[in-house]
Amino acid sequence: MLTHAISPNPLYQFAADVRAGLTHPGQKELPSKYLYDDVGTALFEVISVLPEYGLTRADERLLRRHANDIVDRIDDPVIVAELGSGSGKKTRWLLEALCSRQQTYYCPIEISATALAMCRRELSDLESISIVGFEREYLDGLLEVAARRQDHAHLLVLFLGSTIGNFDRPAGTKFLRQVRRILEPGDTLLLGTDLEKPVPQLIAAYDDPLGVTAAFNLNLLARINRELDGDFDLQQFKHVARFNPEARSVEMHLRSSRKQTVAIPAADLSVCFKEGETIWTESSHKYSRHELLQIAMAAGFRCRAQWIDDEWGFAENLFIAN
Ligand code: AVI
Repeated sequence: MLTHAISPNPLYQFAADVRAGLTHPGQKELPSKYLYDDVGTALFEVISVLPEYGLTRADERLLRRHANDIVDRIDDPVIVAELGSGSGKKTRWLLEALCSRQQTYYCPIEISATALAMCRRELSDLESISIVGFEREYLDGLLEVAARRQDHAHLLVLFLGSTIGNFDRPAGTKFLRQVRRILEPGDTLLLGTDLEKPVPQLIAAYDDPLGVTAAFNLNLLARINRELDGDFDLQQFKHVARFNPEARSVEMHLRSSRKQTVAIPAADLSVCFKEGETIWTESSHKYSRHELLQIAMAAGFRCRAQWIDDEWGFAENLFIAN
């Protein structure tokens, strides 16, 4: 079964966020969550199979290899809430391990209806599972899942694929603290995190030679054109990926090739760009193993186990709520 809870008025919020980001003093910016409309979600699926982008394969490898070990460390009965399920492909391994032991209640939480639909298709053949999808922001969805908890059930929250890396470090810890507040002691969080690696390897992963990541990034301007009636000329913006050594993150920007003015009527906005000026669209932070133990503590968890993929440099971290 899959039911949908639809969020109210997303277009109004999109217009307000575009307006705030493009009138931001200094660096113009757009929130990375808007990269994921139907087109962006499909492009991200392609990114995840590019040879240069090893992150998703590493995440999947760890979940495939260690699914039983992970499930062994979780107390049953369990309700699984996944923050940003994507296609659901990598979650299959964990759900199979869980379903072989008990009837499993799985709640993917996604802002993308397309991703929820892909997830349903991917997992529809599993037995002993009830799937209830939430088309919601992460914390709103998690609150709803927690409210459905039956006596004695434990929550297992999945936050995979290093999506935490798309928050800056303080915001990432703050977000995990907010997750923790919704949980009960003994509940668990499985957090996937991309680890630090050489800069050339990172730049290749975020600026692939086929131009898929460039299309993913530029689609944000195309989305503004489609949904807010903007007149961005996509030929006049170029995708840029660069490493920020202070933040230990890869930043994606869109650089204006010339001086230009862009109108976005539905956001009540006209924006001027200088030649070379950029819009910052995403940061992807990279972590050290040790740092993840500190993040767990700062957010009100303890780290029960870590599984590392050495081929790419990725960690699956099992945190228990204190
Ligand atoms: C979803 N997130 C973890 C991806 C990342 O690596 O930060 C998004 C992405 N952006 C460009 N390529 C992939």
